[in-house]
Amino acid sequence: MREHALTLIIDQFSNSCKSKILNHVQEHKTSMVRILPVILSALSLRPVICAVSPSPLNSETSRNEVMPAEDIGDPEIPSSSICVDGNCYPKIFVPAHDWKPILPGQDLPGGLSIRINMETGLKEARINDEDISNSSSNELVVSLEDVEPSIDDYEFSNDFQEIRGIIDSHSTLSPHNVTILEDKFDKVMEFAHDYKHGYKIIVHEFALLTNVSFNENLPLTLRELSTRVITSCVRNNPPVVEFINENFASFKSKIMIALSNLNDSNHKSSNILMKRYLSILNELPLTSQEFSIYSPAVLQNIYEQNKNDKQLQIKVLELISKIFKAGIHENEDTNLVLYKRNAENWSSNLQEWADEFQKMIQNKSIDELHTRTFFDTLYNLKKIYKNDMTINRGFLNWLAQQCDERQSHLDNGLRERDIEQDSFDKKLIDSRHLIFGNPMAHRIKNFNDEL
Ligand SMILES: *[C@@H]1O[C@H](CO)[C@@H](O)[C@H](O)[C@H]1NC(C)=O
Ligand SMILES: *[C@@H]1O[C@H](CO)[C@@H](O)[C@H](O)[C@H]1NC(C)=O
Ligand SMILES: *[C@@H]1O[C@H](CO)[C@@H](O)[C@H](O)[C@H]1NC(C)=O
Ligand SMILES: *[C@@H]1O[C@H](CO)[C@@H](O)[C@H](O)[C@H]1NC(C)=O
Ligand SMILES: *[C@@H]1O[C@H](CO)[C@@H](O)[C@H](O)[C@H]1NC(C)=O
Ligand SMILES: *[C@@H]1O[C@H](CO)[C@@H](O)[C@H](O)[C@H]1NC(C)=O
Repeated sequence: MREHALTLIIDQFSNSCKSKILNHVQEHKTSMVRILPVILSALSLRPVICAVSPSPLNSETSRNEVMPAEDIGDPEIPSSSICVDGNCYPKIFVPAHDWKPILPGQDLPGGLSIRINMETGLKEARINDEDISNSSSNELVVSLEDVEPSIDDYEFSNDFQEIRGIIDSHSTLSPHNVTILEDKFDKVMEFAHDYKHGYKIIVHEFALLTNVSFNENLPLTLRELSTRVITSCVRNNPPVVEFINENFASFKSKIMIALSNLNDSNHKSSNILMKRYLSILNELPLTSQEFSIYSPAVLQNIYEQNKNDKQLQIKVLELISKIFKAGIHENEDTNLVLYKRNAENWSSNLQEWADEFQKMIQNKSIDELHTRTFFDTLYNLKKIYKNDMTINRGFLNWLAQQCDERQSHLDNGLRERDIEQDSFDKKLIDSRHLIFGNPMAHRIKNFNDEL
């Protein structure tokens, strides 16, 4: 009976994942009853449990794709916190070596151990240490090390050793060499998203990855693959970000140099490479001492040369939004004095950029997270510069329409409340008169509302 139920559940997993679980159950026959609830809970966390299962088909297609899907719908969440009743916590679960509860709405990086704490009933996760094959009486542990074939650094070491060998050979690369390199990069790509493996890859291979990424003698496709490995490792992985930031201080300026050198080649692959670079810059921290790195001229050049590539332009605007906010903490009321100093110190063309933000935000293909980021940027600029900042009719029409839509969402009691969304909607609605229009109109309207 129990086994039947278990089989039904296991059937919902992918084949490779299924066999891992069945092997595990076979090896640990006695612990089958204990593992059942964990498998049940794992159903909701399937991507995490099975993150390491290789999928050669995927990597085959992704290499040939003109624009990898990852770059199209990629939200790159600008506000990286979840706030509930004034308490804020990171959107991405930050694991430690000790168990920590997974809070509502948090995204889990790959490669963590997950358990249900039987005392509290909470789902918890921690970094997947090697030494946790035994569990104490009131805990149920699925060590991913048990479920998956064990993968150690040496597996990557060999792949990267081969990559290194081919790159360092003093002959020019044959198409055959390039194919081998592409296969190797595809292989490590599978692991780059994983919290622990991603970190290992960066710690061991960052120099090689950046060498390939910046090497102008190599084909763009190869440079792009290497850069994509870095992007995957950086995303959702705070320790990787910290490691790069602390050990490779010149990385950001090297990216900017590479970006400026890519400016006039109008190939598809060079655009993809530029997007990867901008994605990395959007993930790395930025201080106002570093403004000279982020040359406004280079960013303006990229923006203007690529009018037909909205995704690329969006990434530029995202970076500019980030530059203006340098040194301002999330979840604090924006420090407008600091914001003003940042914006002015970075560029004197603020009106021109404000025009681009206004234009872009009206495009229906922009997702909500970018809408929020771009709106906040305009909000702050207008709040600072008041009548010195021109707002155009198109934007005001867009704003009026947004107010109506968002007000009806707020009034809709059926919708599940999303506090972050609601507070943004209120901010946008209030701003129509308070920031972008006549503040008196806001007061009169509110006065009427209260009657
Ligand atoms: C796990 O527990 C078993 C007995 O329950 C014991 O024999 C074994 O040494 C333990 N393993 C570790 C790694 O602690
Ligand atoms: C590159 O490819 C050629 C054949 O196309 C091969 O002879 C050579 O050994 C390869 N180089 C490396 C470093 O693998
Ligand atoms: C990459 O590595 C090669 C060989 O090790 C070296 O000659 C070259 O200068 C490096 N290029 C970059 C951009 O780091
Ligand atoms: C590309 O950038 C270089 C220097 O960064 C500049 O001299 C050149 O004019 C730019 N080319 C185009 C087409 O913008
Ligand atoms: C302005 O930016 C430069 C670097 O470009 C930096 O050294 C300086 O401290 C900044 N000034 C202010 C007031 O932030
Ligand atoms: C919005 O962006 C798409 C490309 O992503 C473009 O084709 C379209 O013209 C834009 N619409 C407006 C109103 O700018």
